[in-house]
Amino acid sequence: MILVSGAGGTVGGELRALLHAGGLPYRAMARDAHRARQAALAGEVWLDGDFAAPDGLDAALGGIESLFLLCGAQPGMDILEINAIEAAKRAGVGRIVKISVPNAAEGGAAALQRLHGRSEAALVASGIAWTVLRPNAFMQNLHGPTQGFDARRICRLPLGEVKYCFIDARDIATTALAALSENGHAGKIYDLTGPEALSYAEAAAIVSEVVGETFTFVDISPSECRADLLAAGIDDWFVDEILEWFTLFRDGRVGAVSDAVETVTGRAPRSLSDFVRQNLAQFGAPGGAA
Ligand SMILES: NC(=O)c1ccc[n+]([C@@H]2O[C@H](COP(=O)([O-])OP(=O)(O)OC[C@H]3O[C@@H](n4cnc5c(N)ncnc54)[C@H](OP(=O)(O)O)[C@@H]3O)[C@@H](O)[C@H]2O)c1
Repeated sequence: MILVSGAGGTVGGELRALLHAGGLPYRAMARDAHRARQAALAGEVWLDGDFAAPDGLDAALGGIESLFLLCGAQPGMDILEINAIEAAKRAGVGRIVKISVPNAAEGGAAALQRLHGRSEAALVASGIAWTVLRPNAFMQNLHGPTQGFDARRICRLPLGEVKYCFIDARDIATTALAALSENGHAGKIYDLTGPEALSYAEAAAIVSEVVGETFTFVDISPSECRADLLAAGIDDWFVDEILEWFTLFRDGRVGAVSDAVETVTGRAPRSLSDFVRQNLAQFGAPGGAA
């Protein structure tokens, strides 16, 4: 039995879809399982669980063999995930597959690298079989509120010609499923990327071609970006964090294209053009099905 945490989020939702389609036994966890059930797939079991309330995790983890560990980016995320790892140990969970970030390390340059680094260290020390997945930027960011194209089909970021190795969250979920359900992945850290490195201008050209409308990338300064994000209601901590990552990407410190998705799953990761074609509605394409 697999427990999917972060089950209502981007990667967790894709993992649930794969588990459901494959008929594999799993449970989904959310802080408000009652609300999450509104979006449940047929026959899904949703359990309440909050990493901030570790005593309550024991019930969710009872009878679980493998835990998919994902927590939304936030201050204190290390403590939340360590609570989950300790509860998994109490419950006798045999395997944990954790979502992390590129170059996670306790002494990392960005806050999320340090938070994930501390959580990874606790995972390694736990004695539970572990696999760490470190994805590059999600393709889903391209239609999201902080790093995506807006309703005018414009994306303004301080990134110049910097290359991103965007990955579709479905490929992260497919890799997670392999690590959760197959042998041979214990003790491995996988850097996950899509098949190509693209600048935002190149990504805009691909989205334009697939959607048939003009999408534009505009290079701005970090301070203009900060003002944009704060005006959009993004909280201060996350704005600082996004800007830290832009610095890492600009400095070439977020890695190159990796073959890990294909090595682990036997299937090449989806290209950006495939992703856009399969998510036309999210890019505001007329007639695009969600
Ligand atoms: N976006 C990127 O480009 C990118 C790149 C590399 C790595 N990452 C990493 O990917 C992760 C985010 O993945 P995502 O986008 O799939 O997540 P998401 O859509 O933001 O969803 C976050 C999930 O975390 C859960 N969560 C938050 N606080 C929790 C708590 N106290 N206890 C239990 N669950 C909690 C939420 O559960 P509820 O349903 O209970 O609210 C939600 O399902 C982060 O660790 C981030 O660092 C992201």
